[in-house]
Amino acid sequence: MTARIIPVEAFDLVVFGGTGDLALRKLLPGLYYRDRDRQLSDDSRIIGAARRPIDRNAYAMEVEAALRRHLPPQDLDKDCLARLLRRLDYVALDATGVDGWPELAEALAGADDRVRIFYLATAPDLFAPICRSLAAAQLVTAAARVVLEKPIGQDLASARAINEVVGAVFPEEQIFRIDHYLGKETVQNLMALRFANSLFEPLWSSNAIDHVQITVAESLGVEGRGEYYDRAGALRDMVQNHLLQLLCLVAMEPPTSLTADSVRDEKLKVLRALKPIRGADVNVKTVRGQYRAGAVDGTLVRGYADEIDGQNASSTETFVVLKAEIDNWRWAAVPFYLRTGKRLPARASELVIHFRAVPHSIFGEAAGALSPNRLVVRLQPDEGIKLFLTAKEPGPGGMRLREAPLNLSFAETFKVRTPDAYERLLMDVVRGDPTLFMRRDEVEAAWAWVEPILKGWRERNEPPRPYTAGSWGPSAAIALIERDGRTWYEDAA
Ligand code: BG6
Repeated sequence: MTARIIPVEAFDLVVFGGTGDLALRKLLPGLYYRDRDRQLSDDSRIIGAARRPIDRNAYAMEVEAALRRHLPPQDLDKDCLARLLRRLDYVALDATGVDGWPELAEALAGADDRVRIFYLATAPDLFAPICRSLAAAQLVTAAARVVLEKPIGQDLASARAINEVVGAVFPEEQIFRIDHYLGKETVQNLMALRFANSLFEPLWSSNAIDHVQITVAESLGVEGRGEYYDRAGALRDMVQNHLLQLLCLVAMEPPTSLTADSVRDEKLKVLRALKPIRGADVNVKTVRGQYRAGAVDGTLVRGYADEIDGQNASSTETFVVLKAEIDNWRWAAVPFYLRTGKRLPARASELVIHFRAVPHSIFGEAAGALSPNRLVVRLQPDEGIKLFLTAKEPGPGGMRLREAPLNLSFAETFKVRTPDAYERLLMDVVRGDPTLFMRRDEVEAAWAWVEPILKGWRERNEPPRPYTAGSWGPSAAIALIERDGRTWYEDAA
C-alpha cells in the first residue's frame, strides 16, 4: 500500500534552538523523511537560529552528524541527505538581545509572500522575548506562523503572560501550540476508531464503561535535560499536555466536523468539566514518585538525584498517578486513571477502556472468572488496537472460558512506515491547519486543572515517594487504583 504524498507550498522555516536536542533529534529528521518523500518544494529553506557563533557549513555538519546518529542507516539516502543539507542556513542570534536579528531579517529578505514559520524550540521563558523581537524586526508577515513547544509556561499565570505577548504579535490562527502526542498516528486513529465506526459510540459512556486507564510509561531517564526537567516534573512535563489531550480525545463528544475549532471546542468542554482535585483530595487522588537507582531492561541505572547531579535533594516528581473525574452526563462515575513516569520497566503508552462486567453470568464456576471486555489502544511501540473478548477454549472439558484478543496491528495491516509525530505536525503548520494543535483556551484550561494539584503538593511539602528504577512506580500508585477494586492493565495482563 503506498501513501499519497501531497506536496506542500514553499516555505522558510526558522528554528530557534536550531542546535538543540529537539531540533536535531526530531525536527530535522522529520523534515528529512518528508523531503525524501518529495513533499517539500526544492526551494524551501530551513534556517537554524541559536546563540552559538558558527557558520552555515558548521551547522550543516552538525545536522548531518545528527541525522546519521538518529536515523536507521537503511533510511539514509545520499542524495536526499545532500538535498536537505542544501536547504540549510544558520544565523547566530541572541534571543533576548539585539545581536543577530538584522542578519535574520537579511536571510528572509525578499520572501515576504512565502509561508514563513518561526519554530520556537526553546525554553518557554524565551517565547515572549523572541516574539517581541520578531515584531520589532518586522518579520511577521501575513503568511507567518509561530510554533510554540510545550510546556507553555510553568503555571496558569505564566502561560497567560506568554499567550498575551505572543497573541499581541500573531493572530490566534497563526499560532501553533505543539503537543506532539496529537501528531502520533495512533492518537489520530483514536478519532477514526471513535468517529468512523458505528460500533463503539453506543457503548462509549458510563452505561457500558467502568473506567479508563491512560498510561505513558518511559524506560528512559531525564537524558541530559535535567535542568529543564527538575523545574518541571512529570505533572507539568507530561500530564498538563500529553495525558490530558489523550483524555480529551477519549472523552469528547463527537465533533460536528474535523475542522480545527469543532475538534478543539469539544476538547475544551472536557477540560472544563474535569472535577478539580484540591485540598484533602490531593492526598487521595494523586501519587507522586521519584526513581532511585535500579535495573531497567537488565541495565543498572542511576537514581534521579545522581542523574541530574543534584547537590541538594530534589523534590521533583518523575512519576505521577492521578484519578481524574469528568463531571458530565456521559462520564458520571467513570474514573480516568492517568499514569506516567520515567525509568519504568518499558516504553509503553496505551489507553485502556475497561467495559463493565456482564450483569448476570450463566456460566458456572467451572467456566472460570469472566473477564470484562477491554479495548486497548496501543500508542507505542507496536501501534495497534486490541479488543479483549471472552471465548470458549476449544476442545473437551466443558465450558471453559478464556480471554482472547482481536488484534489490529498497524504494522502488519498497513505495511508502511509509521511516521514520527513531528513529521505530520510540521507539514500541518506549513499547510496552516491547526486541528492537531492546542488553542489558547485549551492550554489555559489544562493549567487551571493542574494548578490546585501543584498547590496541594507544595502545601503538603512531602518528598515524592521513592520507587526503584525498572518498577511500575511506588506501591501507593498500585494502592490508589486497588482501593477502588481495580488493577493496572499490565498487572492484570
Ligand atoms: C516530551 C517530554 O514532551 O515527551 C519528555 O518533554 C518525554 O520528557 C517525551 O520523554 C515523550 O515523548 P514520546 O514521543 O517519546 O512518547
